[in-house]
This record gives sequence, structure tokens and C-alpha cells, in this order.
Amino acid sequence: MKSSPWWKEATIYQIYPRSFFDSNGDGEGDLPGITSKLQYVKSLGVDAIWLSPFYTSPNKDGGYDVANPRDVDPRFGNLADAKKMIDVAHSLELRVLVDIVPNHFSDQHIWFQEALKAGRGSKERARFHFYDANPDGTPPNNWISLFGGPSWTQVEDGQFYLHLFDSSQPDLNWDNPDVAQDFEKTLRFWLDLGADGFRIDVAHGLVKEDVLKDHPDPQGLSDALRLDMPMDPERRYALLPTVPYFDRQGVHEIYRQWRKIFNSYEAREVMAVAEAWVHPPVNATRYVRSDELHQVFNFDLLDAAFNAQQLYGLMSAAIDLMKSVGALPTWALSNHDSPRVASRIGEVQSRALALFVLALPGSCYVYAGQELGLPDGVIPDEARQDPIYFRTNGTQKGRDGARVPLPWSGEVAPFGFTSGSPWLPLQESWKELTVEKQDTDPKSSLNLYRSALNLRAEHLVDNGEVQWIESPEHGRKNNSLLAFKRGNVSIYMNLSDTPIEVEVSGKLLVVSAGIVDGRDGKVTIPPVSTIWLHH
Ligand code: NOJ
Repeated sequence: MKSSPWWKEATIYQIYPRSFFDSNGDGEGDLPGITSKLQYVKSLGVDAIWLSPFYTSPNKDGGYDVANPRDVDPRFGNLADAKKMIDVAHSLELRVLVDIVPNHFSDQHIWFQEALKAGRGSKERARFHFYDANPDGTPPNNWISLFGGPSWTQVEDGQFYLHLFDSSQPDLNWDNPDVAQDFEKTLRFWLDLGADGFRIDVAHGLVKEDVLKDHPDPQGLSDALRLDMPMDPERRYALLPTVPYFDRQGVHEIYRQWRKIFNSYEAREVMAVAEAWVHPPVNATRYVRSDELHQVFNFDLLDAAFNAQQLYGLMSAAIDLMKSVGALPTWALSNHDSPRVASRIGEVQSRALALFVLALPGSCYVYAGQELGLPDGVIPDEARQDPIYFRTNGTQKGRDGARVPLPWSGEVAPFGFTSGSPWLPLQESWKELTVEKQDTDPKSSLNLYRSALNLRAEHLVDNGEVQWIESPEHGRKNNSLLAFKRGNVSIYMNLSDTPIEVEVSGKLLVVSAGIVDGRDGKVTIPPVSTIWLHH
């Protein structure tokens, strides 16, 4: 069954265009490549695709540095290719979400080029955050870029401009009406081309406050914002709500305006999902108020351990939080910004977790390659591309490992991804992980995802709330077992490396790994495995 509206309990497949499939041998994935593989995407059983940016861009930050948001970068094809990709997706009943990047443009965008020329005090500079230096020549404040280094770069005449990310990504000034107008034009542009909605980049960052004030602890704040930086949780929780450029009230006014545009495409059920890292978590619910956006990403599982206590805490909190506003949560185990789940928690563990998560209420985002159980690629430093690596002088390796192209076929790298030389190296050890190999193996990760997604549509979508059976607060309170019931399906995850017997009967729908033994009202769940039972 499909959920109603379609996005409520959808499975959305994230494609990183540069790494999906290369149709012309230049070593980078492209739009015709995606179009040629949509049948494969359809075979997974997903409802929609979300494409990371493919717009005109100097590609300093994987296309999240947009030079023209209403055109396609030649490396990916052209607008006709985009239209064709959308049309073919629709013919396969796949919806298409595109990425919109409203916090910043590329420094190659015509507006920024004009601003540089026009000089201080001009209306062209007013579209960005340009300020004079402090009397001692230092930048207007002490904020640190999310990619490392200062948040300010000085131009020839001495003024500084603000960039929360790379210096090639000047932040837009949303107090300027030109900015809002331009984005409304971009939203309509892609909707008119056929897109079904948007993933909104840095959705919480558009409005800044206190741009001329120093933060009392900029380094602490910068560390607190980094998931991979160990920090005393109390200190982190004290720092996070003090970010002067995230989650300000003003962003909601912008989404109210956008919602009117989405609603004007009435029959299309346009949807938008916010990338909003907010604190405290309850603030996330504001983004999904009925006159704002439809979904907000929940990133909690991206860095969660394979631990029953922690997973139960995060999952039940996310469900309860969204329930308090009549919405459903979203789930993601991997994306283009974080280590792949198979590398982070282990291959077998990642299968068990995925099968568990795919049964939860809400929408699931699956990052291309996740269905193959793909680990992160091992990247030699000289091949790295992520600005994080360069802006931190190599102290942080960045996100390239999760962006290595997909292995499609054959016995040697680049496994059919390109006939040329891939932009990041595929690993020889991925020989057994290609789509071709997994396609015919009933026990493969690929076929597990296919079965799970089909069964999810059949038995779980729009089929009631979670009733916990086993958790640190329910059942036998065994820290190796999590279980819940939804509709007529019970889902059990054994997190330990020994089998666990439970008293339950039902028909086995799917198992993530191992052999399930069931008789006389008892079922033995294999080690590190999830099962779905139908009653
Ligand atoms: C979040 C995107 O997912 C990430 O890839 C990008 O670097 C930043 N936003 C800046 O646009």
C-alpha cells in the first residue's frame, strides 16, 4: 500500500549524481546515467528519489556551491536531460525530489561577481553579508566556519563576507527581498519542470542574528556542532542552543511563504523535507507545522551505536516527539555527509538495523549504495576532494569515503560505473558487492532491501503505531533484544552474538541474516539479526 499523502510513509532513495552511474566515460556520474538506471531503482521498491545538487557549480563543495540554481552543470548533462530523467521516473511511478540550497550561493554566481565589482554599500553587496573589518583589521566577528577556519573572507577593498561553509560559498542575506524572490522563482522552475518537491539544505541556517557580535566560545561551539567530536554532553547541550545563525524564528516565515507555493500545485502533493539540525530536539517540530514544511530529517541514527538502550531511546523519543504534533518521524542510516552505516557499525549489524528501521512508522531515506551494504571507500589523501579536508589542513579527512561511486558489474574496479577513470577510486574488494552479483543471490543485502521494502508496503505502511514488546523498559528488559508490533507484524532485533529464543508464533516474513528456528510457539532469533513475523 502507498501511504496517503504519498510522502507520509514513503521510502526515498538518495542519489549522489556524481557517484551513481557515468553514461559518457568522463569518470563522473550524470543525469542520463541516472535515467538509465531508474529501472534498477524501481526494482528496489522505493517511492521516490532525492538527488543531491546537479546545478551549474564550480563543484568546490560537491555541487552545494550553486552558481546557477536554474540550470544543469555540463558535467551532469543539460536541462533536457533533467526533464527526461523526471519524466522517466514518473513513468515508473517514482517521485523526484531535488535539492535546494538557500543558505548560500557559489562565489561564481553572477550576484556574487556583481557584488565584488559594485563595492561597499551597494545594493549588490546587500544580497550577501558584507561588512567592514573591525578597527584592528580583524573580521566582523569570531565565528568559525562549519568546515573549519574563519567564517569570514576579506575581499580586495577590505570588506569581509560571511560564509558558514567554504569561502567559495558566500551566505545569502535573507533580509533582502531579492533573495526571497529569486528562490521562489527557483522553486517554481523545478516544480514546473516536473519535480515533486525539495530537500532543503541547511534549512535552519538562513536567518542570522547578532552578525556583528562575537560568540563567547566559538571553538566550543564549533566542536559542539561536529558529530564526530567527543564532548561532555552537558557542555554540548549548553552550547548548541546558543548558535546565533541556526534555528532563528525568522526561518519559519520563509517556509510559510514556500508552503503557499507548494500548495498552489494542488493536485501534485508537493513535499519538502528540511535538513535542520536543531536543539533542543523539540524545535524540529516547528518545521513541520501545517503551514510550513512536510518533513524534517531525523539524524539521530547516523551516529548511534548498535546498542539496544541507545537505539530504543532515540527511536521512541523520535516517535513520541513527532506524535506530539500529529506527524511521523523520518529515518536515515547513511547519507553523503556521514560515514556509511556498514563501516560504522558493521555489515551484519547494519542489515539488522536497516530491517528494524524499515518497519518503523514514518519515511525512510536510503542512501544509494546502502542497499548493497557498501562500506566507505578508502581514499588516498592525494585523491581527496572535500573542502573539509583542505580547510582543516588534513586533520579531518572529510566525507569523500561515503561518496565513492557505486559498483555495478564485472570483476574489477571501476565495476561498470564508468568506462573512464572514476573521480574517486572504487575498491577492488567490492567485487562481491556489485549489483550484478547481488541481483542473483537471494541472500544478498540488495535482495534483503527489496524484500523488506515490498513487505513494508504490503503490511506496514499506514498500519498503526508502534507497540513495544521488548526494550529496556518493556518485556524481559534484556539489553540484547528490541521488539515491537505494528499492525499484524512483530519485529524482533537480536543485537547480541548468541541466538535468543522468544515465545511467539507467526509466519516468518523476512530475516536479515542467519537461519530462524521456530516451533511449538517459540522462535529462535539468530545472532545479530532482525526478523519480521506475520500473525
Ligand atoms: C549540507 C549538505 O548535505 C552538505 O553536503 C553541504 O556541504 C552543506 N550542507 C553545505 O551546503
